[in-house]
Amino acid sequence: MPKTMIEPFRIKSVEPIRMTTREERVRLLEEAKLNVFKLRAEDVLLDWLTDSGTGAMSSAQWAAIMLGDESYAGARSFFRLEAVLKDITGMAHLVPTHQGRAAEKVLFSAVCKQGDVVPNNCHFDTTRANLEFNGVEALDLVIAEGLQPSLIHPFKGNLDLEKLEDLLKKEGHRMPFGMITVTNNTGGGQPVSMANIRAVSALLKKYGKPFIMDVCRFSENAMFIKLREEGYQHKTIKEICQEMFSYADGCTMSAKKDGMVNMGGFIMLRDDRWLDAVRNMLILTEGFPTYGGLAGRDLEALAVGLVEGMDEDYLRYRLRTAEYLGEKLEAIGVGFVKPTGGHAVYLDAKTVLPDMPVEHYPAWSLCNALYLEGGIRGVEIGSVMFGKHLDDGTETYHSMELVRLAFPRRMYTQSHFDFAAEVIADVKANARHIRGVKITKQPKYLRHFTCECEWA
Ligand code: F0G
Repeated sequence: MPKTMIEPFRIKSVEPIRMTTREERVRLLEEAKLNVFKLRAEDVLLDWLTDSGTGAMSSAQWAAIMLGDESYAGARSFFRLEAVLKDITGMAHLVPTHQGRAAEKVLFSAVCKQGDVVPNNCHFDTTRANLEFNGVEALDLVIAEGLQPSLIHPFKGNLDLEKLEDLLKKEGHRMPFGMITVTNNTGGGQPVSMANIRAVSALLKKYGKPFIMDVCRFSENAMFIKLREEGYQHKTIKEICQEMFSYADGCTMSAKKDGMVNMGGFIMLRDDRWLDAVRNMLILTEGFPTYGGLAGRDLEALAVGLVEGMDEDYLRYRLRTAEYLGEKLEAIGVGFVKPTGGHAVYLDAKTVLPDMPVEHYPAWSLCNALYLEGGIRGVEIGSVMFGKHLDDGTETYHSMELVRLAFPRRMYTQSHFDFAAEVIADVKANARHIRGVKITKQPKYLRHFTCECEWA
C-alpha cells in the first residue's frame, strides 16, 4: 500500500486564486494598517486565517440545500437536523443559532450573572469575550503541558483536574457551569482525552455543576482519541463522539468547523432546566426556535455536513495534512506547537524572532511576514489577541506568541502545503529583516480584528 495519504475527494468546482507581487503586497498590507484581517481576500493566495466557515461543501450538501424548508415555524429542515444531532449527542433540545458566538451569547446571557466564574481548558476569544461582557470571569485551566509549545503530549488540551477541584471548593458558589473545549483551539488545536472529559464531568457532577462542552471540532477530537487513546482503536468515530457527548449536560457549537458548513451554530441541552430562558433569549436576538439564526437550507446542509465530518478517511487525511506541514517545519528548524493539532499548525514566533521584544508583537510581525513573503494569511494568537491595553495605558501580554495557519476543510491540496513550507523557510532565512509593529488604534474587545498598526 503506498504511504502517501491522498485527499479523499475529487474536485468538481474550482475557484481561482491569484498570485500578487511582493511590491503589491507591501502596499496592500500598509493600506490594511498592518492588520491582515483588513486585507481583501482576493489579494491573498493561501487563506489560512481560519478554518471557520471557509471549507468546501460536498455535492451532497449542495443537493440538500435545495431541500431546505423555509417555513417560519416547524420547518421540516429543523426536524431533520434535530434527528441527526439527537443521534450524535443523545441530548434532547436543539437551539439553532447563526454561528458559535451567538450560541455563546444566548446561553451565557440566559444562564450567567455578574460576578460568576466559568472554567475551561482554554476559552476561545469569543467565548471569553461573551463571558466577560456578562461580567463573568473566564478562567483557563489547561494542564501545564498544554502551555509549552515544544513539549509532546498526546492530549495537551486536557483540563487540570486539581485546579478544577480547587476552584470548585473555593469558588463553587460563583460557578454556573464548567466548560471544556474540543479541540483546544487557543492552546494549539490540541485534543482532550476521553478520560479527561469523563473525569471533568464526574468532578462537576460531584459539586452539582452542569458540564457544557464547546464542540466546534468534536469529530477531529474523536479521531485523535481513536488514534491515541487506549481502548478506542476499534470504535467508530460516531461511537466515540456519542461517548464524548454522553458526559455533558449541554454544548455550544460553531458549525462552521466540523459541521462542514459556511454558516451555522447551535446549542444542545440534555434537559429543560435552562430551555425557556435560552429560547426566550434566542427569540429576542436570533429568531424563532425552529430556525434560530439560520435559513432552512442551512439546517439541511448542516445535517449532512455533521455526518460527513465524522467520516474516518476524511479525518485521517485531515489530521495528516497538519502533521505533514509539521514535518516540513521540523526540517527547517521552525518551532511549532507539538504535536500538530487537528485544524491548524501553530508556529512559535519566538523560534523565528527570538530577539524581538514582546512589545513589538513578534507573532503579529511573523504573520505579516508570511503575507509579504508568499501571500499566505494566518492569524496571530499572541499578545495582540490575548494581551490587553489597560485603562492606565499599560499592556498585558500573552504567555505564547503563536501564528496559527488554519486549514479550510477539503480546500487545499498537498502542493499548497509544499509551497507554504518553502515560504516559511524563506521567512526564517530572512528573519533579521522582519519588522515589529506598534498599535495605533484599538477597540476595547477583540482588538485583533480591527486594530490599526504602524511599523515599530
Ligand atoms: N469556540 C471555538 C473553540 C472557536 O474556535 C470558535 C471560532 C468559536 C467558539 C466561535 O464560533 O466564529 O462561529 O462565532 N473560531 C474561529 C477560529 C473564528 O478562527 O478559530 P463562531
